[in-house]
Amino acid sequence: MLASTSTSSRRSRTRTRRTVARAALGLAALATVTSAAQFEPPNDQVLLGFWFDSAQPYSDTPSAINNNLGFNVPVFQMAQAIPLPPFDWVTGAGGPAPENQIEKSATDAAVFLTVYPVDGFQTVTDDDFIALGKQILDYQVNLNRTVFLRYAPEMQGTWMKYGMQPQAFNQSWHDMYTLVKSVAPETIMVWAPNTPQGYPYGQQGTQYNALSAVDKALLDTNNNGQLDAGDDALAPYYPGDDVVDWIGLSIYYKGIPSDTQNTIQPNGYCANVISGTNPESGDAITPWYGPYCDQKPDKACMFAEAGAAYHVNDAGTATQAALQQAWLKDCVTNSSMLDAFPRIKLYMQFEYEKTETANNGQDDLRDYRLLNVTDVRQELAADLQSLGTRFSWAQSRAPPTSISSPGAPAATNSAGTSIIQAITATTRPRPTTFPSLFGSTSDGTQRAEWAELGIMVAAGVVGAWTVMRTL
Ligand SMILES: *[C@@H]1O[C@H](CO)[C@@H](O)[C@H](O)[C@H]1NC(C)=O
Ligand SMILES: *[C@@H]1O[C@H](CO)[C@@H](O)[C@H](O)[C@H]1NC(C)=O
Ligand SMILES: *[C@@H]1O[C@H](CO)[C@@H](O)[C@H](O)[C@H]1NC(C)=O
Ligand SMILES: *[C@@H]1O[C@H](CO)[C@@H](O)[C@H](O)[C@H]1NC(C)=O
Repeated sequence: MLASTSTSSRRSRTRTRRTVARAALGLAALATVTSAAQFEPPNDQVLLGFWFDSAQPYSDTPSAINNNLGFNVPVFQMAQAIPLPPFDWVTGAGGPAPENQIEKSATDAAVFLTVYPVDGFQTVTDDDFIALGKQILDYQVNLNRTVFLRYAPEMQGTWMKYGMQPQAFNQSWHDMYTLVKSVAPETIMVWAPNTPQGYPYGQQGTQYNALSAVDKALLDTNNNGQLDAGDDALAPYYPGDDVVDWIGLSIYYKGIPSDTQNTIQPNGYCANVISGTNPESGDAITPWYGPYCDQKPDKACMFAEAGAAYHVNDAGTATQAALQQAWLKDCVTNSSMLDAFPRIKLYMQFEYEKTETANNGQDDLRDYRLLNVTDVRQELAADLQSLGTRFSWAQSRAPPTSISSPGAPAATNSAGTSIIQAITATTRPRPTTFPSLFGSTSDGTQRAEWAELGIMVAAGVVGAWTVMRTL
């Protein structure tokens, strides 16, 4: 059941004005009036968003998350590739992100769409960006959703095929921005690099040497002729204030000193990471909060993907509950943290269990989920309750009664190439090309989804929503 006690205040869609004393930042002696970012909750309120794993065997949904948490989560993350592979009606692969899961949750939560140029920037055409803009406009206009677009995240790393190419990233970002905004101007553009911890992530040898002279120069920010921990992990990839609305960061706790063992994080872990101190070594790292949040008052900031890894196969000293409660109390429901970093307005929880490649090269099954462990779930709900109105929640809303889907295939198994409507985006297998620093989980079977899809197709597009709601 959804908590009817959840205290929510409307996030303003209009821009509010704030005054910031830039003198305090040492930039100018004049006070500057700026505006808040779109969908930013007012005053000291913040948002808690969720990633959800719709693939089997997890089959997680926004509805289940809301039910388990007892609050209506205001932002849900989904991912897709660009160019968008056509939805395959035989295998269930490809196609757009499963936005219908958000519709089914019956709230006004925002869509947080991550788009990975999985085969590199050179494969993405103007038409691909225009198609993406139309998909987003459909969500905004026909489904009345706020849409965040997080394009080409964690762009500093070669674990992404498009990664570690600052010049091409910047060019592609500008193309994306211009074309998507021309179609869907309300889209909230999220620039979201990976954590500066561990930069340059072991890429200073072969990978750096293979770059163009221009990229090498862009990355060697301290001009000492090499890529090293003294170089800025973020600035070479920042496309510019005029083309960014929100600024994100991937930030995880995976264990100190070993990323395969369950040890509880030190207090202040997240504060250190975002303020320029490696919490493990004490060494300086590139600060994120100061330059990208505090000093950019018209942008809002977020943890775009975040969580603590419980190492399922380590019988170490810390329980999953202890490990994840430490994360929450340090990094999410810590009112000192919320006070100290007021420009972080959204915390996106990575609600996944995944096998990842550890630093020792071995596979390590990691459970980041907060709602799967009863102790953690209860503690999180209690902490959120005790924080009163600090967190702002989504409002209930009746799901659409029908969604038109021009271009959806007839009741056959032929692939459609322009299927971008929510109704046709069924739950699907995990994309095999899902790019990640963290490896992948096993693929599940698709039989249940096949049944759903078959019934939907048989029912025809009009009325399919009614069928889905009963499945
Ligand atoms: C769109 O959603 C917002 C937020 O829930 C709501 O305030 C508004 O009334 C909706 N507009 C329409 C036309 O339904
Ligand atoms: C990205 O491109 C813009 C527009 O050409 C330019 O102003 C900006 O300096 C570039 N950013 C970086 C980090 O190179
Ligand atoms: C809460 O946040 C503050 C400020 O960021 C930090 O100093 C403190 O250590 C955090 N508390 C815990 C329990 O980690
Ligand atoms: C935790 O997740 C597993 C699947 O990974 C599921 O079988 C189990 O029921 C879940 N437990 C709770 C308490 O949600």
